Amino acid sequence: MRIRRCAVLFFEPREQIGFDLNSLLSGGAGLHRELRWLALAAHLEAEVEVDGDERELLGALSPGFWIDSATLEPRFAASLQRLLEQGLIVAEDARHAGYRERDDTLRAGHWWPAAAMAHRLARWQGLDSVSVMEANEMTTAAELRRKLGPPPVHAPQRGDARARVTLPRVDGNDFDALLARRATCRNFDGERSLPFELFAHMLQRVFAAQAQVRIDDDTVFLKKHTPSGGGLHPTEAYLIVQRVDGVAPGLYHYHAADHALQPLPAPDEPLETFARRALAGQHWFSNAPVLAVLAPRYARSFWKYRNHPKAYRALVLDSGHLSQTLYLSATELGLAAFVTSAINEIDIERGFGLDPLVEGPLAVCGFGWRAQRMETTEFDPNEEVWTPTPEKQ
Ligand SMILES: Cc1cc2nc3c(=O)[nH]c(=O)nc-3n(C[C@H](O)[C@H](O)[C@H](O)COP(=O)(O)O)c2cc1C
Repeated sequence: MRIRRCAVLFFEPREQIGFDLNSLLSGGAGLHRELRWLALAAHLEAEVEVDGDERELLGALSPGFWIDSATLEPRFAASLQRLLEQGLIVAEDARHAGYRERDDTLRAGHWWPAAAMAHRLARWQGLDSVSVMEANEMTTAAELRRKLGPPPVHAPQRGDARARVTLPRVDGNDFDALLARRATCRNFDGERSLPFELFAHMLQRVFAAQAQVRIDDDTVFLKKHTPSGGGLHPTEAYLIVQRVDGVAPGLYHYHAADHALQPLPAPDEPLETFARRALAGQHWFSNAPVLAVLAPRYARSFWKYRNHPKAYRALVLDSGHLSQTLYLSATELGLAAFVTSAINEIDIERGFGLDPLVEGPLAVCGFGWRAQRMETTEFDPNEEVWTPTPEKQ
């Protein structure tokens, strides 16, 4: 049987600290510390604890060249067996096809290994970030200050303040007024639906191709309203449509070249439950009429930026730019918008049927009508969005 090591593998010597009653009773700190070696592999769903022999064997195998397993020293027989079962060593035979295919999919993506690992490790599943924040009393700015002490200064000073060149405050125009009205919405009108035209206009502004440049029959570049690393526009919009006139509630993929919605199979739970799960419990966002999952297709970017240390960073920046276009587009149309990166990536991938080695969410945006009343705090110190309450006037 021919074998090789999986493509992307890191080891972490992790210290686990646990409660130890015996230590407490005998006058100690009440804690016990345990060190474990964990193998982190980008094509696997879970980390794998490994022992010394297994580490040694993995270190001795090439990720590129296949060898015959019969050439290994006999003392590695048990380690080989276990590492094959765990997917850290891949084999050419049919019995081990599952992990080999996942490893091959990862290889075909041309990830920079550290980025592949960081992305895999940062994905959440089933997390309710709201109850975690509430349980830790870390919701309001005052609570954060109490728990964490003061943050680093809000506007740092470099050098002698007297040497600064003071700049004029210029009278703004309509664009400045638009920028000033942009505020993250945490209070959507949960009843009012979005007219079809407005919905279409938003998608056209934010996600549509404005032009196509055909280099060859199989090589097309898109022009959009938002910049994109390498001009590749790898980020797809997967939509959770909850309240749009003339569009059945459900999951869709947006086709950027055709400006069209592709209906996708419904999630296996009510749409609003899926939306809230996707948003890690953030109920102040989950009732927006439209949620847009920003999900890069890694291979589209890494086609050019192969195993490139900056490529993943460019994907993250692309999503940030898209979200700002979405915010400003919505604001100009009288709509409200948000973006969040506190999302349950794994649940979103499963809901939309995305292979996490091929494409997956970095952020979720949403847009719709703002509610009349503010239930959840928004950051509007200049009262550009929310009219002052009578006592403030
Ligand atoms: C990358 C990113 C992630 C964010 N994640 C969250 C989030 O998880 N929950 C939330 O309520 N707001 C989130 N926000 C919104 C910020 O809290 C908001 O931008 C900030 O409070 C400033 O308010 P403003 O956007 O109204 O100016 C996020 C914004 C950005 C750019």
